[in-house]
Amino acid sequence: MTDAKRKAHYARGPLFAVAPMIDWTDRRCRFFHRLLAPDALLYTEMIVADAVLHGDRERLLGFDSEEHPLALQLGGSDPAKLAEAARIAEGFGYDEINLNVGCPSDRVQSGAFGACLMLQPALVGECLSAMRQAVSIPVTVKCRIGVDDQDPEAALDALADAAVEAGVSAIWVHARKAWLQGLSPKENRDIPPLDYSRVVRLKARLPDMFIGLNGGLTSVRMAAEHLKGLDGVMMGRGAYGNPSDLAEVGPLIYDRPPAEVDYPALLQRMADYAGAHMARGGRLSQVTRHMVGLFQGQPGARRWRQILSERAVRPDATPDLLLEAFSYVSLTGTPTETAA
Ligand SMILES: Cc1cc2nc3c(=O)[nH]c(=O)nc-3n(C[C@H](O)[C@H](O)[C@H](O)COP(=O)(O)O)c2cc1C
Repeated sequence: MTDAKRKAHYARGPLFAVAPMIDWTDRRCRFFHRLLAPDALLYTEMIVADAVLHGDRERLLGFDSEEHPLALQLGGSDPAKLAEAARIAEGFGYDEINLNVGCPSDRVQSGAFGACLMLQPALVGECLSAMRQAVSIPVTVKCRIGVDDQDPEAALDALADAAVEAGVSAIWVHARKAWLQGLSPKENRDIPPLDYSRVVRLKARLPDMFIGLNGGLTSVRMAAEHLKGLDGVMMGRGAYGNPSDLAEVGPLIYDRPPAEVDYPALLQRMADYAGAHMARGGRLSQVTRHMVGLFQGQPGARRWRQILSERAVRPDATPDLLLEAFSYVSLTGTPTETAA
């Protein structure tokens, strides 16, 4: 194993990532996001280590080569199982394995992983260390700043120290606590207050470690502004809801020259992709559901949304629906809030 491989995308400077999101960042979504943001690091949905060990691996782990660089996020708290799942995933060609220490859902709590692991930094260290020994690609962690009544200063430092000790390549921090009792997972992404300064303090304390910020970054421009003093920014809902904004990643994060998105070519590519997906037994709506927000703010966006939402689910729907829906969109206008 070489150090270069270990560091890979983390050695290249500032990094923009699209966050792992269960039910959202599946392979269809990632293929689509990749066309808009060639440089972004993409994450899978969280996949539980047990599922990798015992489930249908091709269905759970399969992806298209276009999705690189691609990180698999694992959920679990058993070092041996996580190590084995990481090893299997490396065989599939992933570029990174990430451990979820941020997800507060009940299902996850009952399995003793996700955000409640903030309470067990030593166990997180063991998990990460076992994963790191099993693979030669980067192993990383995504965590919160604490849970419940934990002091975020001590809680995040303890977690980060365990991760550093285990040899991770990056620590991504969703800059708010998770409250394990009384809030739904959705509320836990909005209600506990954001504290970006806590993440900046972590970076000051660990200047040699890659520290990435996540949470409440609603546009690529806002993400770029928060990159100062940090190593990476990660956007979740903002990227999913308004995917055209991902075209700003090149110019605003990676200093690439601004380029207009060639939407007709993009949609043709997605139609071809959808055709191939359907030929394998998939449904059109599994592809188009991730594209509904594409023309947000442009004249015709409402019609686009309506056609995709209502007609892509019909059994006789074909990929041409994408091109038909696009014919109602006018790209000449400046995005407006009220555009139809
Ligand atoms: C639908 C949905 C599913 C999510 N699933 C995961 C997940 O699988 N793993 C994870 O670490 N975070 C998950 N998250 C949290 C996001 O990765 C991210 O931390 C959170 O949404 C805050 O970032 P944002 O404000 O940019 O959306 C999910 C968020 C959403 C909206």
